[in-house]
Amino acid sequence: MSDVTAFHAPIGTHDVLSPQSGRWEYLIATFAGFAHRYGFALAITPVFEEVGVFHRGIGEQSDVARKEMYVFTDRGERTYALRPEGTAPIVRAFIQHQPTTPFKAWYFTPAFRYERPQAGRYREHHQLGVEVLGTDDPSLDVEVVTLAYRFYQALGLRQFRLQLNSMGHLECRAAYVELLLEHLAAHESELCDEHQKTWRENPLRVLDCKNPACVAVTEKGPMLLDHLCEDCAAHFASVRSRLAVLDVTYEINPRLVRGFDYYARTTFEFVSDALESAQNAIGGGGRYDRLVEQLGGKPTSGIGFGSGVERLLLALDAEGIPAKSPFGEMDVFVVDTTGEDVATPLCDQLRAAGIATDRAYDARSMKAQMKVADKSGARFALLVGPEEYALGEVTIRDLRSADHSQVQRRVALTEVVATIAQLRQVK
Ligand code: HAM
Repeated sequence: MSDVTAFHAPIGTHDVLSPQSGRWEYLIATFAGFAHRYGFALAITPVFEEVGVFHRGIGEQSDVARKEMYVFTDRGERTYALRPEGTAPIVRAFIQHQPTTPFKAWYFTPAFRYERPQAGRYREHHQLGVEVLGTDDPSLDVEVVTLAYRFYQALGLRQFRLQLNSMGHLECRAAYVELLLEHLAAHESELCDEHQKTWRENPLRVLDCKNPACVAVTEKGPMLLDHLCEDCAAHFASVRSRLAVLDVTYEINPRLVRGFDYYARTTFEFVSDALESAQNAIGGGGRYDRLVEQLGGKPTSGIGFGSGVERLLLALDAEGIPAKSPFGEMDVFVVDTTGEDVATPLCDQLRAAGIATDRAYDARSMKAQMKVADKSGARFALLVGPEEYALGEVTIRDLRSADHSQVQRRVALTEVVATIAQLRQVK
């Protein structure tokens, strides 16, 4: 080891290396397959944006904008922020490029929030998500919620619940907030310490507070669901009835006010009962009917959700569900002790035939190379020593059989790709 101090990944961030990364491949590939089947195409936008995209998008008063954003000034004196979430950048790109609507995009993205790191809460986390822009058809709310629901089912998760609410649109919510403010003013002294100070600026947050003092106050107060305007109530009723047709089970949570200001009408969260309650949201989203305007576009309705990859993996672990790489393991490992570099062209041929192939380097001894072959997880070792080389042959050894020296055969070097392709089919 050198005596220079080594670096570590920043607090609240994680390196994802093999074998863990195989589980990420599995989640991302499964989600990509779902998104494709539901008509979504991949969108990739920059990991940093002008800070206004988030200030105007998620709301300057939101916790994320006030306390958690990574904001920096670059060498050209422009103020940027690392994205704390994936929706506002997609909306910014939608306005910039004006694609035809409905515009359906899926993404896999890191997100950065300066939070107190703990299990399931990180400063860099990753989200799989979708956004649709261009219609307020309730069928779309159902489609987006169902995509998430079926994705979680396909992963094998059982202990998750879908919570549903409607935040109304700007006008009916504003009327409701007046009622809520009146109620909170009358009970100010009964609120938790934090909300005694902040209830005026963001009264809806009090609904979300888990402190029993706030719960007791809001329980007696008005709920937004009882104060929706006729249109918002009708929209919510059709979302509910269409979900019921699909057997997508949900519970109504009138306290569900999500963390960003852009939400309107349908909002939802998926919680896992296998996780600690403070970090049990495996995904969440909703409709945003003003966000496009707020970012400078024409009035356009949108809806989407984001799902935390780290939280999904914790939920899979907690439910004891294995998640493996979709690519499977190595097929073969080439051990070459000829000193003639047979391995290089052999690996090239195997890989060209779609066979996952690894090999040893540095002309090490047979014993040393076999050790690496055993560790590689490959199903077969291909051995080429001086004897095989002289005969133009290769020894194929099954590394998964109990006594692998018993299960080996010699084949001509010219036959090896075809033989492995065949053997690979036999489970
Ligand atoms: P969000 O609820 O803030 O929504 O985040 C979505 C998901 O990301 C959460 O349900 C959780 O699984 C995961 N997550 C959030 N923060 C952290 C963290 N600090 N550490 C680990 N995982 C975390 C959004 O971001 C919205 N953009 C979702 C959306 C899309 N709404 C409409 N479209």
